[in-house]
Amino acid sequence: MKILFNSFLLSLLLSSSLFAQSVKKVNSHKMEGKKVFETYCWGCHHQTAMAFGPSFEEIASKRDTNEIRAMITDPVAVSKVFGYKRNAMPAFTDLKPEELDAITSYIVSFKSNYKIMENK
Ligand code: HEC
Repeated sequence: MKILFNSFLLSLLLSSSLFAQSVKKVNSHKMEGKKVFETYCWGCHHQTAMAFGPSFEEIASKRDTNEIRAMITDPVAVSKVFGYKRNAMPAFTDLKPEELDAITSYIVSFKSNYKIMENK
């Protein structure tokens, strides 16, 4: 019993430190996502306002992670699936997997903002 309890405590400790680590990761992830955004997307997308393409707030409100990733790497096919009549967004096939992850979570992070705006 005691051994069981100890291993329970140990796993609690382990998971809380893992949690702390992943919180740190999320923060640096967000920075990286912003960098990718400023480097590649800013000309056509803005965080909150419609530009040449839709705002990240709007995208986050209607797409999930997989859809966003798919659009970034294969806009020709995915813009059709999304119902666009034409595709004006270039494909970003040279992004590193970490960059793709980072920009995707950066976009998704605008989801809650959109709801708040809608309620106003
Ligand atoms: C040359 C302008 C341009 C650039 C640069 C660009 N986009 Fe787009 N994007 C568009 C346009 C225009 C659309 C609307 C669909 C279309 O025309 O293909 C769009 C659509 C999207 C969509 C889907 C919108 C929806 O309906 O959900 C996502 C996601 C997206 N862009 C992400 C990005 C990301 C991430 C980057 C940077 C890595 C980026 N875009 C760079 C022009 C651009």
